[in-house]
This record gives sequence, C-alpha cells and structure tokens, in this order.
Amino acid sequence: MIDIHCHMLPMFDDGARTIDKALIMAKTAVENGITKTVVTPHHKNGMYDNEKRKVEAGVFTLQAMLDKNNIPLELIPGQEVRINGDILSEIDQGKITFIGKSSNYLLLEFPPMFIPTYSEYLFVKLKERGIIPIIAHPERNQVFINNPNRLIQFINEGALGQLTAHSYLGIRGKKIKKISRQFVAEGLVHIIATDAHNEKKNNFCLGEVYTGIKDEFGLDKKLRFEHNAQAVVAGDRVNR
Ligand SMILES: [Fe+2]
Repeated sequence: MIDIHCHMLPMFDDGARTIDKALIMAKTAVENGITKTVVTPHHKNGMYDNEKRKVEAGVFTLQAMLDKNNIPLELIPGQEVRINGDILSEIDQGKITFIGKSSNYLLLEFPPMFIPTYSEYLFVKLKERGIIPIIAHPERNQVFINNPNRLIQFINEGALGQLTAHSYLGIRGKKIKKISRQFVAEGLVHIIATDAHNEKKNNFCLGEVYTGIKDEFGLDKKLRFEHNAQAVVAGDRVNR
C-alpha cells in the first residue's frame, strides 16, 4: 500500500520527535503493509516552514537510515502546504514540493474552521499551471462539513480530496465518521492516507480502512482508492 500523507520526517514538525521515533513509525508502517510513504511535513501553517530543499535533504537522510536498518520502506518527498497567499510565488521560487514523478500533485490543507476568500482564485491559477491540488482531509474542515457544496465546487474544478484513515474509522468522532462516508459515497474524496504523526499502531490503519470500504461500498471503490494512491505517486491520472 502507498501512503501519500505522513509526518515521519524527524524534527520537521509536530510529527516524529526523534530519529528513533521516525524509525519506529517506518517499521510500524511496513508491519501494516505500507511499502511507500510520501513524507509531508507541514509547510506555512503558521508553526512550521519546510521548503522543498529541506524536505529533500530530510528524505535523503531518513531513507539512508531505513536502508541501514533494513526497513523496506520507500520514502517520497512531499509537503502539506497550508493554503496561503504566497503559494504561486513559492512555486516560482522552487520552494514547493509536488508529490511523485509528474510534479503536478500538491497536497494542500485548509484551516480547520474556514475557507479563505482567495481560495477559488488560487485554484484557478493552479489549474492554469497544470497543478492538481489534493485537499487534505476535507472531512475535518467545518465549512465542508456544514456545506459539502463548497467542496463539490473545488472538486468540479479539478481538485481531489484526501480522506484520512482515522476519520473513516471514527477515531475523530461520530460526526467526522459520518461525513467521511458521505464524501466517499458522493465521490468527493479520491485517495485515503494516514496523516500519521506518531508511531501509534492504529495510525497506520490503511488496510483496515480499505477492507471497510470494500465491505461498505464494494470492491470497485476500494480498488479505485488503491489505484489512485499509486497514480499520484507515479504521476498518472487519478480515477474520479
Ligand atoms: Fe497532515
């Protein structure tokens, strides 16, 4: 399995606190059937800035440690970019990390309580550049929860949605569990990821969620989610 959202890089953000913790996270991911992880430290969220060069250096170092410790996990550089007014200029400056080989998938996070007024404009500008925003955990944004039409607008304009495994399992509460199913049913999320911040075993519950998706929504839906995680990393088209 492929995880496209994980805070495994040590001492980059509120994810792994030490190298040892990062190694435990990696081991736990592997034990749970994950073979590739896109590491996505927070960027521009008001607490943490992790520009592309720093992320790539972090991946290089941690990958070497994984290899040395015989932990068979492939790391791929990424970022979880908090939506902000500087994204376009940061792209021009080479500070933004796109996921995978195609250089056009961007994991983008909204603040939990609102949608900035310039968001639609920004999405249009990203689209003009061939960049596909993947909205991180829309099921945790109050505006999307209360008015899924706002999410539909972004998805119709070409954005993708990334559901977090915890949300589906109900670990973040009943309301988020319910809206997660609604988003899956309505095709508003296209990829499932862990968003793991520490080594707790149930952070890496992708397999459990895929099984749940198969049971509740059918095999086709499950295969579609699995395919899409691969497609993002490979730079291929995602199935909507
Ligand atoms: Fe995250």
